[in-house]
Amino acid sequence: MKKIQLFITITALAFVLSSCEYNVENEDVVIDPCETEVSYGNVIRPLIDSNCMPCHNGDGNTPFAPDLTNYNSVQGIASLIKDVTQSGRMPKNGSLTEVEKDAIKCWVDQGALNN
Ligand code: HEC
Repeated sequence: MKKIQLFITITALAFVLSSCEYNVENEDVVIDPCETEVSYGNVIRPLIDSNCMPCHNGDGNTPFAPDLTNYNSVQGIASLIKDVTQSGRMPKNGSLTEVEKDAIKCWVDQGALNN
């Protein structure tokens, strides 16, 4: 009788452990936000227009704020833009959602294309 109880306990324990492992594997599924290509024209440009102007409009009224009005000036400091938005230093006096931060990060990591 005791042997049967031990057998049942071990079987139950093995079942619990294996189902735990299964759950952990399920939680490990990570959705990569950079899986699809991020468009400069459709995503990044409008994002900069609504979050980085008027400070970065190149009129010289905001000292040391680099001009972000066109693709070439944005592309030239793309990795800096990624850094300051990831860290939350920019937009000054504002904030971006995680989705917006990811979009900038992915666009830069994908080569900051004029796409
Ligand atoms: C309220 C005004 C304001 C807004 C909005 C703003 N910035 Fe800035 N930004 C500044 C000023 C002022 C500086 C220069 C002084 C400093 O670095 O703090 C600056 C500097 C920067 C720099 C250069 C940082 C360096 O280390 O040289 C980058 C890149 C930048 N901003 C990107 C952005 C981006 C991208 C956005 C929009 C998501 C944004 N900023 C929104 C005012 C602003």
